[in-house]
Amino acid sequence: MSTDDHDLDPHRDPRAPGHLSREAAPRELRGADATADVGVVIVAAGSGSRVGGPELKQFRWVKGKPMLLHSVQAFHARRDVAMVVCVLPRAFVGDPPPWLFQCDTDRLLVSVGGRERTESVANGLEDLPDEVRVVLIHDAARPFVDNAMIDRVIAEARAGRGAVAALPVVDTLKEVDDDGRVRRTVDRTRLWRAQTPQGFPRDLIEQAHSRARSERLNTTDDAALFERLGLPVVVVRGSERAMKITDEDDFARAEALSATPE
Ligand code: CTP
Ligand code: MG
Repeated sequence: MSTDDHDLDPHRDPRAPGHLSREAAPRELRGADATADVGVVIVAAGSGSRVGGPELKQFRWVKGKPMLLHSVQAFHARRDVAMVVCVLPRAFVGDPPPWLFQCDTDRLLVSVGGRERTESVANGLEDLPDEVRVVLIHDAARPFVDNAMIDRVIAEARAGRGAVAALPVVDTLKEVDDDGRVRRTVDRTRLWRAQTPQGFPRDLIEQAHSRARSERLNTTDDAALFERLGLPVVVVRGSERAMKITDEDDFARAEALSATPE
């Protein structure tokens, strides 16, 4: 590798700008680095019930390609990523959609999902190869993750902490009773909206998930399992573009946001 190539690589030079896209990268920059030790679990085994329709939410097209493929390619564009494990619904594991292989297939594994998200993550963790030291967990329902955000999560996880991409809450928050009557206004100054990716040292997130399994515990994110063990978790700046596609309207919103500068 030439000196110029080093300058292009944001993972060797933190001052280097920009996103190393697989398509744009010269051939010698593609694929994992020999020292790549980041494993990514992308959970894509949900049923997308709030979107509905005949096609699974995570397989629907958004901004020119299937939702799941956006995040697979974003993680494969990084040389510190050793493996991406896609957790799919059981019906698709034996016969994944062909477009999924439009990526660096040497760094792609497919795992089977569980009934709950927590179980899907646990299954993906089990398939990570030995060299993985830092684990990123990401929702397929967030197709527009960006490289700078991934950098921030990895840096904290490498330092031994759990790391959550998140955004501060800006709206005033009301706690209400069952009839919609406001009980109180909640102080928002310490509240953040958690996104993914979330990053963790491998040994610790494995412990947290094995505890969850034995206690039959399900949480909507993985940092919550870390917190329960009293392990440190920090927030790092996420991105509006990394919004989760939950309802039908979110497809258009996510696509519009993805075109805005950070
Ligand atoms: N997920 C998963 N396994 C499950 C449930 C969810 O892998 N048993 C994944 C989804 O595919 C998604 C992410 O977890 O990428 C976040 O979940 P959510 O947005 O709630 O997606 P769904 O569960 O598919 O949607 P819904 O709750 O509307 O059914
Ligand atoms: Mg769900």
